Amino acid sequence: MKRIALLTSGGDAPGMNAAVRAVVRVALYNGIEVMGIRRGYAGLLEKDIFMMDRSSVSDIIQRGGTVLRTARCDDFKKLECQKKAVDILDDYGIHSLIVIGGDGSFRGAQDLAKLGVSTIGIPGTIDNDLAYTDRTIGFDTALNTVHEAVNKLRDTSTSHGRVSIIEVMGRNCGDIALYSGIACGAESIIIPEKGYDKDELIENILTGKRKGKLHNIIVLAEGVGGAYELAEYVENKTGLEARATVLGHIQRGGSPTVPDIILASRFGARAVELLIEGKSSRVVGVHENKIIDLDIDDALAKERVFDSELYHLAEVLSL
Ligand code: ADP
Ligand code: F6P
Repeated sequence: MKRIALLTSGGDAPGMNAAVRAVVRVALYNGIEVMGIRRGYAGLLEKDIFMMDRSSVSDIIQRGGTVLRTARCDDFKKLECQKKAVDILDDYGIHSLIVIGGDGSFRGAQDLAKLGVSTIGIPGTIDNDLAYTDRTIGFDTALNTVHEAVNKLRDTSTSHGRVSIIEVMGRNCGDIALYSGIACGAESIIIPEKGYDKDELIENILTGKRKGKLHNIIVLAEGVGGAYELAEYVENKTGLEARATVLGHIQRGGSPTVPDIILASRFGARAVELLIEGKSSRVVGVHENKIIDLDIDDALAKERVFDSELYHLAEVLSL
């Protein structure tokens, strides 16, 4: 194996650049050339491919986003497009590809593997929604972003004695809400894995008021959604003022935290090693601080186990 290619795909995540850097540097260290593909599978189909060198990844370890840029490309789900991609890779003398992204990106990598390209996936998404790995690149940074934002909202909520409903990202996964909710000392955390009872929520807010709480912080996962409607409902039912804030894409930006940079560097290094070992159709992950790798299909088939203990802890701590 003399040459590999690398792309980032799906939603960007802070730390992706650190993974890109690690892939390039570990490959070069082992005498392997790296071609960068811009804008994910869309760029691959448009031959947006260039040779990377040591300096292509200088000064990016601390930067958010992805220097390779990213895209969502629906066409890539079609077999004809995947075959075209294989031909393009072949023209460039590329038979091995590392894909940094989420489950959708991994499905694309698996399709390419079935057509003969050696592929390895690196989990890069703020959502932390992949069951096979304890952490995905970007999750820790997103939590810190939410933490900072909620602390600011808490100041103004306290001053006004308001209820603050903060909607955070995560698609159908409640991890960003659950972990940030604990870190922010939220009074309530609403996540799709658990659902919620509106009457209980109102009772909780009124109990908090009776106890003398000056604010009420509710972290709501986007998988449940409806922050503005919920704020209106809370106002009507409690007589308290309520404000909704949808944090949105701010959660995807910013410099990665140290844990994300280190995780991304370890993932990038292991992905290259797997290709050197002749492996394909695998994804890297982390479990109990050890880097692991699994078959892509097995990894995607794993079902997430809801951490009910952590959810219970959040309830107890918000007493
Ligand atoms: P993520 O990788 O973050 O989950 P998406 O679900 O949007 O993000 O997937 C990213 C890209 O991966 C898609 O735009 C598409 O190009 C590719 N992809 C997603 N699902 C498949 C699939 N079933 N087969 C082939 N490619 C796919
Ligand atoms: O998967 C990352 C994520 O930020 C989700 O949390 C969110 O639902 C989605 O991407 C937003 O996608 P887009 O950037 O296409 O609006």
